[in-house]
Amino acid sequence: MPATVMDGTALAAEIRAGVAREVSELGHVGLATVLVGDDPASHVYISLKHKAAVEAGIDARDVRLPQDASEGDVLALVDELNRDDEIDGVLVQLPLPAQIEETRVTYAVAPQKDVDGIHPVNAGNLYLGTPLHVPATPAGCMELLAAHGIDPAGEEAIVLGRSEIVGRPVAMLLLQAHATVTMCHSRTQDLASHVRRGDIVVAAVGVPGIVTPEMVKPGAAVLDVGLTRTEAGIRGDVDPAVAEVAGHLTPMPGGTGPMTIAMLLRSSVKAARFRRGVLAYPSL
Ligand code: GUN
Repeated sequence: MPATVMDGTALAAEIRAGVAREVSELGHVGLATVLVGDDPASHVYISLKHKAAVEAGIDARDVRLPQDASEGDVLALVDELNRDDEIDGVLVQLPLPAQIEETRVTYAVAPQKDVDGIHPVNAGNLYLGTPLHVPATPAGCMELLAAHGIDPAGEEAIVLGRSEIVGRPVAMLLLQAHATVTMCHSRTQDLASHVRRGDIVVAAVGVPGIVTPEMVKPGAAVLDVGLTRTEAGIRGDVDPAVAEVAGHLTPMPGGTGPMTIAMLLRSSVKAARFRRGVLAYPSL
């Protein structure tokens, strides 16, 4: 029997409707997205994020800097947004142009406003099991599992990829949900032997079709985060034929992507609550 489709578009719509209700209760939620340069994929992502934020009633500021902006320009902008009382959340789209050191920018965003959950204070709290802001894509993966009644506790979870924005944080969230977590990456030997153990598999390496049906345990829940634009169209890390073996599978597109946007909006509401003191953010 083919896998149950984990429909991210439908779940994201529910979450976005909930966010819209919370925004109207709060009265005002401000989100600034910052796009530096002309990376075409980033332009698409930022437009989608901005449009979704506006639809949820968020006061969304779409700030853009040119490709040749200096690190100082970006840091000055981030500083301004940190001090702006109208702004609850700040997201600087990655990657940044080569002349800008990403870590400096990541460190510069005020931790309370870091809706991306990548400031070391937020990353560190996730590592410690006391999450504050959490990266949106991993949070979306956990929501998709929960919505399908998949409890990671005691399950074997296999994560492919160790990026700061997906692999590491999703491994931490799965660990916090009491899964037994294995992280696989470019130096992993015999990837298939690891993936085959997985009750839950999260693929986030950007290698089209790297997860094949032979590698998947029958009945496993497989979440595809990899996205590669090929001449034949958008391809995920998971071979679509995995649907014949898996118990649950995210479609590509329409799975984890829409969830990323929905969870960013939810993070913006959380940031507004942090800033109003409705939710506690530890003082630093
Ligand atoms: N680039 C690709 N994904 C992301 C994301 O989730 N956040 C940011 N800031 N940049 C990205």
